[in-house]
Amino acid sequence: MKTVLITGVDRGIGKALVLKFLDAGYFVIGTSLNDNIDYSHENLKVFTMNLESEESISACVENIKNLDTKIDILINNAGIMADGEETTVIIDKLRKNLEVNLIGTIDFTEKVLFEVNQGGHIINISSSAGSLSNTGVSSHKPGYYPGYKISKAALNMYTRTLALRLKDKIIVSSVHPGWVKTDMGGDNAIITPEQAAQDIYDFAITKPETGQFWFEGEKFDW
Ligand SMILES: NC(=O)c1ccc[n+]([C@@H]2O[C@H](COP(=O)([O-])OP(=O)(O)OC[C@H]3O[C@@H](n4cnc5c(N)ncnc54)[C@H](OP(=O)(O)O)[C@@H]3O)[C@@H](O)[C@H]2O)c1
Repeated sequence: MKTVLITGVDRGIGKALVLKFLDAGYFVIGTSLNDNIDYSHENLKVFTMNLESEESISACVENIKNLDTKIDILINNAGIMADGEETTVIIDKLRKNLEVNLIGTIDFTEKVLFEVNQGGHIINISSSAGSLSNTGVSSHKPGYYPGYKISKAALNMYTRTLALRLKDKIIVSSVHPGWVKTDMGGDNAIITPEQAAQDIYDFAITKPETGQFWFEGEKFDW
């Protein structure tokens, strides 16, 4: 049985991903900020983890190691958009975006890396909002949520650098999930979390070129 590790599984895209992978016969390890998962499955194990806390990340990784299960796919899904319809960089909000979307995500990945199988796939859920060449595109409310955009652009660079390091061992990808109807995406978003999860699943089980940015299985501009 293959194993997938997914962060941020209590709602949104993360929850839909868990249900998709369970349906496909995977053993799923999930992480949740709060201990409030409203679903369960015999092939699902969820541990709490706050990506803003080094201590919490280390404790979660210990729990994962104790399962004695190697990981085939890691999906760094958990994320926040701490800033909103503001165009100025508010330092506290920038710091929060970076703590969760970048530093915590990197810390977790580095600590859990030795549990990932050779031939495995690490997916960082990024955003078209983090694409430098898309900056100013109208669908991204030009100028809005700069802290979020900065955090996802930096996460993309982590994808690039980690892919170089893990060349010929583990594939590393950044993925834009689309504009998804979740608490973050809002009601006007275009696709459901289930559709996004299906697209991410279809991509995750392939062996794409490492170190690239993807959307719906196609390369996306950095
Ligand atoms: N929705 C979109 O249109 C869209 C577009 C582009 C990219 N994305 C990206 O897709 C990913 C999932 O987004 P979503 O729309 O599903 O968002 P969401 O519904 O807001 O869910 C975010 C998830 O991240 C978790 N999380 C938040 N802060 C955390 C922390 N400090 N430590 C650990 N986990 C934390 C949340 O846990 P709690 O529920 O406990 O707070 C929740 O499970 C994110 O990386 C997001 O940036 C989304």
